[in-house]
Amino acid sequence: MTTDDSHHDDASPDEDRRQSGAQWRGSDALSGGEPVLPDGGTEAEGADEATLDPWGSSTIADYRKLFEQFGIEEFDEVLPEVPNPHYLMRRGVIFGHRDYRPVAEAMRNDDPFAALSGFMPTGDPHIGHKLVFDEIIWHQQQGGDAHALIADLEAHSARGLSWDEIDEHATDYILSLLALGFDPDEGTLYRQSDNREVQDLAFELGAEANFSELQAIYDFDGETDVSHMQSVVTQMADILYPQLDGPKPTVIPVGPDQDPHMRLARDLAARMRFFGVTEAFASFEADAVERTLLRQAYDAREEYAEDVDRPRCGEAADWLRDHQPAPADARESVVAKLDEAGKELLRPRIRFLDRNATDGAFEALIEAIDGEKRVYDEHIDTFDLDYAEAEELARQVELDNGGYGFQPPSSIYHRFMTGLTGGKMSSSIPASHISLLDDPEDGYDKVKSATTGGRSTAEEQREKGGKADECPVYELYAYLLSGDDDEFAKEVYDECVGGERLCGGCKEQAAELMAEFLEDHQEKREEWEDKLDELDIDLDSDRAPTSAD
Ligand code: TRP
Ligand code: SF4
Repeated sequence: MTTDDSHHDDASPDEDRRQSGAQWRGSDALSGGEPVLPDGGTEAEGADEATLDPWGSSTIADYRKLFEQFGIEEFDEVLPEVPNPHYLMRRGVIFGHRDYRPVAEAMRNDDPFAALSGFMPTGDPHIGHKLVFDEIIWHQQQGGDAHALIADLEAHSARGLSWDEIDEHATDYILSLLALGFDPDEGTLYRQSDNREVQDLAFELGAEANFSELQAIYDFDGETDVSHMQSVVTQMADILYPQLDGPKPTVIPVGPDQDPHMRLARDLAARMRFFGVTEAFASFEADAVERTLLRQAYDAREEYAEDVDRPRCGEAADWLRDHQPAPADARESVVAKLDEAGKELLRPRIRFLDRNATDGAFEALIEAIDGEKRVYDEHIDTFDLDYAEAEELARQVELDNGGYGFQPPSSIYHRFMTGLTGGKMSSSIPASHISLLDDPEDGYDKVKSATTGGRSTAEEQREKGGKADECPVYELYAYLLSGDDDEFAKEVYDECVGGERLCGGCKEQAAELMAEFLEDHQEKREEWEDKLDELDIDLDSDRAPTSAD
């Protein structure tokens, strides 16, 4: 768990911050239109290179880069589609997503959907993990099929933990998840090493990925051990596991460091599909850019076709040559294809491509298509189906013929919390984070000695206001201590930046709330402790007590 939220645009007068109603959410890096630069401090060092490393301790210097370079979308854009959004969504702590719309839609329509995340049991669960626990639990409460897994294979292979250490920590993660409200009767808990279906699926998925690809995504090299690679395909299988009993929208709540895994999982889900479905205009193959040109030529047919109902490929080629729509290279290649097709009709159709289909499934699809169709070696063209109907049919035939019919999994990304000592929150620096197992008094003390965004003197603070956007204590309020109470979070923010709130009192209040939270949480953990045997998950592995290294 790492962070770097410490950057701030230097020239940010207080008026700026108050103008934007979104600022109390602590979303400084996201809501301002102007470039947000690391403020030159050492904390941002190495933080802005264009890689996300799931096993590194990369910090995120500029969340906007995640949108620009990696194609993560802003969560605010789907927020209005989410019924009763969680406070972490409302406050911009959950800042990004991939493809969350199908999940939101399923929630609105009471359709099946799932949520899953995994935890490497490398240390105590802390308040950063609580974000993910809460996200899983919230999706469960919204009617989702919720899953939480212990990534013990990954902890053993990528982090070198012994099985004994893993067992001990695994129990702690599960207890905190239950204490925070996960319902084990409705949801699923498992550990990777114990889940045969996950391992079988991992093996199948591994057949769709090769070493060069893992090398490109994760920087693996000749020294990377094989078990580490196996833990990658295991995670891919975790992510698709909720769909083994049928395709459904599935959200994976994680930190942005896990995004490389999401991209690979979405790719693999698509590669496993029996059929691809695309639009086409003639018998030849065309890529997405070429298809937009074909669409333009088709739409302009009245301008050139001798018979408007029967435009010819050759005629469309002439039109494209005359009108020169961009891009030039795609135009040239599509003109060549159209010329070659000559007198063939230019005619929109939906094409099923054979990707991973068995012969039987390909035959079954041909059978299942109503209306006019044309069958080729590797594809089938149909003329009476629209795109959505075709997708639906392809999935149904796949399922009927033993395929998975996976939907690409979705993800949501939360911001990393700043360490209480400034810099990153790290399990190896106890004072930087609050463990869910900390004595309430220790939690209290850690908050009391936390770094703040306060000014050097009370006088200056009253005059200029505190810097809530750079304050780890404010983060505690926004991410945890205010719970569902937006009014309270906003009040703390406004009082701070308005100079009415001073750090001493503010920390005292936060420290008391933190102690209360820990006390309550630990009581609930104890209640669950007695019921652990009733759970399906086996918390004692019988593995040899070796370390992986
Ligand atoms: N790799 C994750 C981590 O480092 C753990 C994990 C394993 C996971 N399988 C997963 C996370 C599936 C989300 C979904 O914490
Ligand atoms: Fe942080 Fe509170 Fe001080 Fe503001 S008043 S800077 S929120 S500790």
